[in-house]
Parts: sequence; C-alpha cells; structure tokens
Amino acid sequence: MKVREIRVPKRNLGNTNIEVSCLGLGTVKFGRNQSVKYPENFDLPNDKKISELVKSAEELGFNLLDTAPAYGSSEKRIGDLFQQQKISRHNWVISTKVGEEFENGKSKFDFSATNTELSIKRSLNRLQTDYLDIVLIHSNGFDEKVFDETDCLPTLQRLKKEGLIRAIGVSTKTPRGAIRAAELTDIIMVTLNPEMQADLSAIERAYELNRGVLIKKVFNSGHADLKEKNLQYALETPGVGSVIIGTLNLDHLQNNANVASQL
Ligand SMILES: NC(=O)c1ccc[n+]([C@@H]2O[C@H](COP(=O)([O-])OP(=O)(O)OC[C@H]3O[C@@H](n4cnc5c(N)ncnc54)[C@H](OP(=O)(O)O)[C@@H]3O)[C@@H](O)[C@H]2O)c1
Repeated sequence: MKVREIRVPKRNLGNTNIEVSCLGLGTVKFGRNQSVKYPENFDLPNDKKISELVKSAEELGFNLLDTAPAYGSSEKRIGDLFQQQKISRHNWVISTKVGEEFENGKSKFDFSATNTELSIKRSLNRLQTDYLDIVLIHSNGFDEKVFDETDCLPTLQRLKKEGLIRAIGVSTKTPRGAIRAAELTDIIMVTLNPEMQADLSAIERAYELNRGVLIKKVFNSGHADLKEKNLQYALETPGVGSVIIGTLNLDHLQNNANVASQL
C-alpha cells in the first residue's frame, strides 16, 4: 500500500478553533522508557527514527503531536527535530502538559502557580516555539483536588489570555474529574476503548458543551488484542476529536492511519 493513498481526516476540536487529524502521534516513547506500562521494554529511538516517524505521520495527514514534561526528553527532541529538519511549526498542533515531571526515574507533581508558569516557559524553550497550541493538566490521580485546591487552572487561564496558549484542558484520571474538566476547560484527554468505558459520560458531557475530546490508551498501552476494533470504536464515539496513539513502528503508524482514513 502506498503511503500517499492514506490520509487521516481532520476534525474540529470542540469550540477551540483548532483543527486536528483524528489520529495524533503520542510521544512518550520518544523520551522515556522507564516506569512505563507497555508490554515490552524498548530502547529510546535515535534521531533518524524520530525524524522518519514524524515525516511519515505528516505524509499520512497527521498534524497533532502529544508530548509532556513527564515524557523525559520528548519535548526537547521534538523541538530539536523541528529546528534541524526545518519542519514548519505552524503545520503542527502541539499538545503538552503541566503538573508532572519525570526525573531520575521518578515522577513528581507540582500544581502551584509558580511551577505551572515555570513549566510553560520551559516547554516553550524545549520546543523552541513562542506559543503552545494545547496545554493539559497532567493529573496525579486527584483530579478534583487539583481543580479545587491548587492555582494550576487559573494560571493556565491567565497564560491563555496572554496568548502563550491557544487552548487548555486536563488529562484526567477519574470519571468525575473528567466531567468537571469538561465543564471547566476547553479540552479533556480521557481513556477510551471497548474494555475501558468509565469516561463515556465525560465524553458525552464534553460533546454537549462543544469541548474538545482527546483519547489516550485506545490500545490499553499496547496490551489490547483487537487494535483495529478499538480504534474504530473510539473514532466512532460521538464527540471524539482525536485519538492519540504512541508508536515507534512505521508499519503500526500506517496501519492505524489506514483504519482512520476509511471511516
Ligand atoms: N496524560 C496521560 O496521563 C497519558 C497517559 C498515557 C498516555 N498518554 C498519551 O496518549 C498516548 C497513547 O497512550 P499509550 O502510549 O499509553 O497507549 P496506546 O496508544 O494505547 O498504546 C501504545 C502502544 O501500542 C503499540 N501500538 C501502536 N499501534 C499499534 C498497532 N497498529 N499494532 C500493534 N501495536 C501498536 C505501541 O507499540 P509500537 O511502538 O510497537 O507500535 C505502543 O506500545 C501517549 O503516547 C501519550 O501521548 C497520556
């Protein structure tokens, strides 16, 4: 099958004014291979491999990259790649996160205003850009405490007003937190596959409110058997804007794009 025959369609991300490919490229594996939940251990890809993946993704119609400070060197590697390969920043929607960092093999969380602002400046610096399309709060498991007891959300709202961020949201860990996130922000990033449907109510709420919906773990981090079925299910769920899939394998990238292009 020729790569150019496959085009991943685009969808609006709620009312954000951001149009994204209905598949996004997840980049955990670009920068982190410790304390991850994938079925097999792996080496971090070299620069050539990352370049091939991003270029192939672009040819297949992807325009969305999902990264995070918690994904080790992922943000820096994306920034360096765009700079070195002269990839146009404006052709891509970059989603990153705040709140979690991963250093020396351990995660730590800080949702304070000071750290949120520092984290955004660091992401801009690592990604070598002057704006971030999407910033998601990287939940520690206590979604609602983060909303009610920290200054993370108001800080992001301020940075959005200042023009550093186009849209804000939350990568949630609880069904109730996901519903609150749909009510409070522009975008929710939630888990969905046929075996994990706890966030369906939040997706419905987001759809009602015209918020953006990003899906993570559609393959249960690689453990799901029926990958095509899972992807079809997520893409056909009303309200879903884009399904973020992590892969280091060009054939997998193309297979996933092929499924999306036929819906
Ligand atoms: N914010 C959060 O809390 C959070 C948490 C998890 C994930 N995420 C985001 O969501 C993305 C996806 O989540 P995820 O990486 O945990 O899980 P996932 O997308 O469900 O699964 C990724 C795994 O599936 C494999 N895979 C991909 N396409 C395949 C195919 N066609 N056939 C067979 N295997 C395939 C990949 O291995 P190969 O490399 O071998 O293809 C990889 O190990 C992440 O990269 C990240 O951007 C966010």
